[in-house]
Amino acid sequence: MQRVYIYRRFERFWHWSQAMLIFFLALTGFEVHDSIHLFGYEKAVHYHRVASWMLLTLIAFSIFWHFTTGEWKQYIPSFSKFSAQIRYYTIGMFKGEPHPTHKTARNKLNPLQAITYLGFKLVMAPLIVVTGLLYMFYRTIDANQMVIISDIPLEVIAFLHTLGAYLILMFAIIHVYMTTTGSTPLSNIKAMLTGYEDLDESNERQSKDTSILNQHEDEK
Ligand code: HEM
Repeated sequence: MQRVYIYRRFERFWHWSQAMLIFFLALTGFEVHDSIHLFGYEKAVHYHRVASWMLLTLIAFSIFWHFTTGEWKQYIPSFSKFSAQIRYYTIGMFKGEPHPTHKTARNKLNPLQAITYLGFKLVMAPLIVVTGLLYMFYRTIDANQMVIISDIPLEVIAFLHTLGAYLILMFAIIHVYMTTTGSTPLSNIKAMLTGYEDLDESNERQSKDTSILNQHEDEK
């Protein structure tokens, strides 16, 4: 096993701050939705709006980061080991079989992770952001008589926004469970905290990646 620098500083910052913001938005959002009572309605609305602007800013920076570093390519799923990965998660890992795919710094997502995270980025996040913004500016847009959404009742926007919230919550629960399926239950979480992960050095490509990524060590 070799210690490999796999998650860079911005990536770790983005990951954890996004997780905290989504958790807080879910708490305040479901208070607005009247499912829980924590801060009081008025405060929940205010906090939800502030946190949503913070999330939008973070999303803008993370899009920039993904494209400037080329990290967006990690999310293109390869279908060659797709069924092997499903078999591993449903049967193999309970029998102690080895992972069918090897994690490297340049190829850190297995095919199932890649397609799930792509779905998060291309479906769930746009759904919650677009419906959230329509919700937020509904009155303004209405007052300005902008035709685009005059036919969409607020209830529909609220419904779609809440649907997005449920999808994101489902994603979060499954995501947290899946993080425990690494070489040890906490190895993936530790890697996202420290940036480093112990990976199998017998994998050829990895040693190449290690040397490439070691050049980035200064960025930490
Ligand atoms: C950029 C992201 C987001 C924006 C712009 C946004 C915006 C809004 C707005 C404007 C409202 C109506 C309450 C108010 O007037 O403030 C709302 C409600 C709500 N939000 Fe968000 N939100 C965002 C992200 C999220 C996330 C990530 C979640 C949960 C995971 C969430 C869950 C909810 C829920 C459950 C409601 C209540 C819907 C209802 O019953 O009317 N929101 N959001």
